[in-house]
Amino acid sequence: MDGFIEKISDELARLKSSGQFRTLRQTAVLSGGRAELDGRVYLNFSGNDYLGVAGDVELRREFYRRYADDLPLPAATGSRLLGGDTPAHEQLEATISRLYGASALVFNSGYHANIGILPALTGRDDAVFSDKLNHASIIDGLRLCECKFRRYPHLDYDRLEAMLDEAWKEGRRSFIVSESVFSMDGDTADIPRLIELKKRYHAVLVIDEAHSVGVRGRDGLGMCAGFTDDVDVIVGTFGKAFGSAGAYCVTSPPLRDYLINFMRPFIFSTALPPVVALWSDFVLNRTADFAARRRRLAAMGGRVRAAVAAAGLRTLGDSQIVPAIVGENAPALALAEKMRAAGLLVFAVRPPTVPAGSSRLRFSLSAALPEETPELIAEALK
Ligand SMILES: Cc1ncc(COP(=O)(O)O)c(C=O)c1O
Repeated sequence: MDGFIEKISDELARLKSSGQFRTLRQTAVLSGGRAELDGRVYLNFSGNDYLGVAGDVELRREFYRRYADDLPLPAATGSRLLGGDTPAHEQLEATISRLYGASALVFNSGYHANIGILPALTGRDDAVFSDKLNHASIIDGLRLCECKFRRYPHLDYDRLEAMLDEAWKEGRRSFIVSESVFSMDGDTADIPRLIELKKRYHAVLVIDEAHSVGVRGRDGLGMCAGFTDDVDVIVGTFGKAFGSAGAYCVTSPPLRDYLINFMRPFIFSTALPPVVALWSDFVLNRTADFAARRRRLAAMGGRVRAAVAAAGLRTLGDSQIVPAIVGENAPALALAEKMRAAGLLVFAVRPPTVPAGSSRLRFSLSAALPEETPELIAEALK
C-alpha cells in the first residue's frame, strides 16, 4: 500500500487541473424531455431517451396495469445457462426474431455484448478492423481478442479496404466492426459499402446499432434491419431509444449457438431481471407505432444543427446526436455551465471520450422535447 493513495491522489489532482475530473450527479428523468438535477428542472440533452419512452408515464402505467395480477420477477436468479432462462427472456428473443426475421440473443447490456461477441468469434490468426471512433465498449472487446486488431480512420473505407486486402493476402480471416450511428459525432456508417467490402474479402461484419435502433430504419429497427442476411451480427441496445436496459444481437442460428457456448459475458453473468425483459418486449412490440416520434426527432435534429451552426460552432453528422465542437476543455466546460444556467442540461464531452482538441457539447435529443427547443438552444448559445 506504501505510496498507493498518494499516487491515486496525484492522478486525481492531475485530472482536476486539466478539467477532466468526473463526478456523479443524481438525476431524475421526468416526462416532456425534462430532468431534475440538484433540485432544478432542466430540458434534458444528456440522456438517450430518444423516443421519450423512458419518460412516458402513460406507457409505463399501461405496462404495470397489464402485469398487475401477475407481478414479473425482479431477478432472474441465475445466468441464462443456469436457471435464468425465464419465459420473459424467451418471449423477448421470439419478438426480436419475428421483427427482424432472424435469430436473436439477449444480453445484459450493450457493454456486455461488445466485450463478449468479438472475443468469442475471433481466433488467434484472425484480424479485426475497427472504425477509429467506435465506442469504448467495442475497444474493450478488441483488447480481449486473442488476435490482432487495427483501427481504420473514421469512415475511411478506402483505408479499410487496403487493410482487408493485406489480411487477405496473409491468409487471415477478417472481421469488420463499426457503429451505424456514431455516439459522439452523430454521423453514420455507409452500411451498403461495408457489406460490399465484407463480401469481397469474405469478412465477418459486426454492426453496433446502439444509437440507431428505435430511431432509424423500417419500424425503427435500425439501419441494418433490411440487411440481416448480409450483416453477420447486428447489435442493438434497449437502454437508449427503447427506454429500458439490456441488449441483443440479430444473427444466424449457428452464430447464436456459438455465442451461447463461447461468449463469456453471456455465460458468466446473472441474466437480466425478467421484469426488464418484459418491459423491453412491451416497448419493442410498439416500435412500429412510434413513427410520428421518429419524424419529430429527425426534424428536431435538423433545427438544432442549424441553431448550433448559426452560433458559429462546428457541428457534425445528421442524427439525433448533435455535437457542438468547442475545442479545449475549459471553454467547453464554461459553455456547458452557461447552458445549464439557461435551464438546458447538457454536459461537456472531453478527452479521452473524444480526441484531444475536440471537446464539445453533445446535444442528445428526444422526441419528447418541446417544439421550441431549437430556439431555446440558439438563445442560450448567443
Ligand atoms: C455505441 C454504443 N455501444 C454500446 C454501448 C453500451 O450499451 P449499454 O449502455 O447497454 O451498456 C453504448 C453506450 O453508451 C454505445 O454508445
